[in-house]
Amino acid sequence: MLSPEILAKYDQPVPRYTSYPTAPHFTEDVDAATHARWLAEIPSSESLSLYIHIPFCDTMCWFCGCHTKIVNRYEPITTYLDHMTVEVERVAETLGKRHRASHVHWGGGTPTSLAPADILRLSGSLHAHFDFDEKSEFAVEIDPRGVGDDTIAALGKAGVTRASLGVQDFSPKVQQAVNRIQPFDETKRVIDGLRGVGIAEINVDLMYGLPHQGTDEVLATAEKVLQLEPARLALFGYAHVPWMKVHQKMIDEDALPGTEDRWKQAGAARTFLEDHGFVTIGLDHFARDDDPMAVALKAGTLHRNFQGYTTDRADTLVGFGASSISSLPQGYVQNFPQLNLYRRALDEGRLPTARGVELSGDDRLRRALIERLMCDLEIDLGEICGEHGMTPDVLAGARPKLEKLAADGLIELDGDHLTVTPDGRLLVRCVGAAFDAYFEVAEGKHSKAV
Ligand SMILES: C[S@@+](CC[C@H](N)C(=O)[O-])C[C@H]1O[C@@H](n2cnc3c(N)ncnc32)[C@H](O)[C@@H]1O
Ligand code: SF4
Repeated sequence: MLSPEILAKYDQPVPRYTSYPTAPHFTEDVDAATHARWLAEIPSSESLSLYIHIPFCDTMCWFCGCHTKIVNRYEPITTYLDHMTVEVERVAETLGKRHRASHVHWGGGTPTSLAPADILRLSGSLHAHFDFDEKSEFAVEIDPRGVGDDTIAALGKAGVTRASLGVQDFSPKVQQAVNRIQPFDETKRVIDGLRGVGIAEINVDLMYGLPHQGTDEVLATAEKVLQLEPARLALFGYAHVPWMKVHQKMIDEDALPGTEDRWKQAGAARTFLEDHGFVTIGLDHFARDDDPMAVALKAGTLHRNFQGYTTDRADTLVGFGASSISSLPQGYVQNFPQLNLYRRALDEGRLPTARGVELSGDDRLRRALIERLMCDLEIDLGEICGEHGMTPDVLAGARPKLEKLAADGLIELDGDHLTVTPDGRLLVRCVGAAFDAYFEVAEGKHSKAV
């Protein structure tokens, strides 16, 4: 284990690197007109990945860092869906040709806030404009609390292939401290129901670093979760950013585990899961060793996008809904996060584009370095620079940072070959930051590394 001094040194705010450049570096220079031009330039042979954001939940979990809103009535959801179907139509028109959808992901918030009929309406709108086939993956994030049989039936009928369920922690004390009461039996009922309608691929999200959570709670939760037989697990470290997410102020900071305890929790869960047949994937994912994600890891074809790690190989991800980000061949584009601005743009006949960034050659190189590093935990600087028509000299600025990381035991450097050490895995974002040309240590923008 790294010494407490080294841990403290690296427990600084760093980006999660689900994109590079990261969202705080997007600007209004990329507007709806640029977005439309970029979409129109995508060749029709290109398969697309589609992301749908549903920013609604019934109640607020105090830890939540997602872009969501609590609604007590259904009407705002209906209005949102009306606008989203217009957006799907407008994007399809702008693309100008029919594309295959290789991968669809509904995230949130809570996509299962949609009424069963609206789940079918939204999937119908996607099917009307994109081509699906038996290889297309259709994943939906689910908060199991209160999910009825009618919702489960609608997900099956819509053709969902993978469900990703939020669990976090099963201990009542932790659940109470984060305003999320979710009994094991209710979670099991929903998973059994999903399997019953043919949704065989089950992912579960867990968290460590929550208030009143210790290694015992994390391990007890992991043990219970294995009874649910998920194919994949995510174990996210709680990102406490109350200056950005005001409801996190409801969390008692005195009850939060410190850096070393967080480190122990993550390490204990990892050992437990590896002892039970899971392969550790990158920073925070686990997959059964015959799962496509574990296979992609071995083949070097794992990718990272806004949902974390993915087997999706499409070069183009088109995001729909408020706050969603598209990753197009030319750069990134983000929709308005504010619901009123999102609606207004669509009502006025525009794409709801708020900002974005066009990728330079240097951005593409650094993006590839960071993505391969986060996925493979090992990179050859010469090889990746060569693939981008450059030599490792362009990374001269990163060298002193890499040497410090090596001296602190996070990586091993052998010429141009960089390997993240077992201790460095949880701090891989800090290693990524060495290649980030935009990075400054900025409390207030990112969550801490550990
Ligand atoms: C959109 S939610 C999943 C679907 C559904 N809303 C739910 O909560 O069950 C995505 C996941 O992000 C994780 N998450 C949310 N807030 C977080 C935070 N502040 N730090 C780390 N992980 C977080 C949780 O594990 C959560 O399940
Ligand atoms: S964790 Fe999920 S259910 Fe809880 S508030 Fe966030 S998005 Fe909603």
